Formats: sequence, C-alpha cells, structure tokens
Amino acid sequence: MKILVLNGPNLNLLGDREVDIYGNMTLAEIKGFTENALQSYAVDMEWKQSNHEGEMIEIIHSIRKSDHDALIINPGAFSHTSLALMDALRSVAKPIVEVHLSNTAAREEYRRTKLTAQAVESIIEGLGKDVYLVAVLALLIKKGLWHG
Ligand code: DQA
Repeated sequence: MKILVLNGPNLNLLGDREVDIYGNMTLAEIKGFTENALQSYAVDMEWKQSNHEGEMIEIIHSIRKSDHDALIINPGAFSHTSLALMDALRSVAKPIVEVHLSNTAAREEYRRTKLTAQAVESIIEGLGKDVYLVAVLALLIKKGLWHG
C-alpha cells in the first residue's frame, strides 16, 4: 500500500514549538518511528510538509491520478479555516484519514470547527506522535491487510 502523508503549516517545527502540546519528536523522528513500527507490512510511505495552502492543494490534486492508495493529512490550522483544502480533498476518490497530534476538541473553541475533516473518511487525534501509526493501521484494517 502506497500512502502519501501530507503535513501542513508549522508542523516542520514539531519537537521545537509547544512541546507540551505536540511532544518533543521532530517530524523526521515521527516518520522514522512510524515506518519502523510498520516494518512487517508492505507499506510505502511518502512524507511531505508544506506551510503553503496552495502548495498543499496542488499536492492533493496530484494524488488524484497517482499510484498512491491513500492519503493521511494533518492540515494543521488549515483544518479549521480552509474551504479550499476541503474542496481539494473532496476531489480525491481514495481513502483519506485526517490526523491531529492534539485533541482539538479539548482545546480552544476555534479549533472545534474542522472543515477538512468533513471531506475525509476518518479522523484520528489526541494520541500525539502515534496518530500517524494508528491512521496507517486503520487503512490496513479497512483493506483487510492487518495481521495483528
Ligand atoms: C494540529 C492541531 C491544529 O489545531 C494546530 O493548528 C496545529 C497542529 C495537531 O496536529 O494537533 O498546527 O493539527
């Protein structure tokens, strides 16, 4: 299974900003941790990060006809604001899982609206770095490829 993992604005600062909320692992470390945990599965993960809404939209468009089987997206704050990202996600006929390291429902009121989550199949949040791993497990289970 080939999965694109798209991370939005400020997630390049993981491990450095607001570590009490997002943990002390960098995005590269989370990538290593997730891929290591999935070694016994035929999962090919491609990780991208962008601070730019337009670039994220282009990346989402690119997977419409690519050989990726699924998308995992952490849209960062764009989750709460971007109709354009929501529309782009709606154009993708592949499974999409939205992830957030923090439990946005337990944070500020303005994080409770999640526009992008309205365009995805599933949302996983609040488990810190583990959300990426759990998102892949969800995709594997759905495809009948999870071997426990
Ligand atoms: C986040 C949650 C968002 O509300 C926030 O703007 C982020 C990170 C998370 O992973 O918990 O940048 O997406």
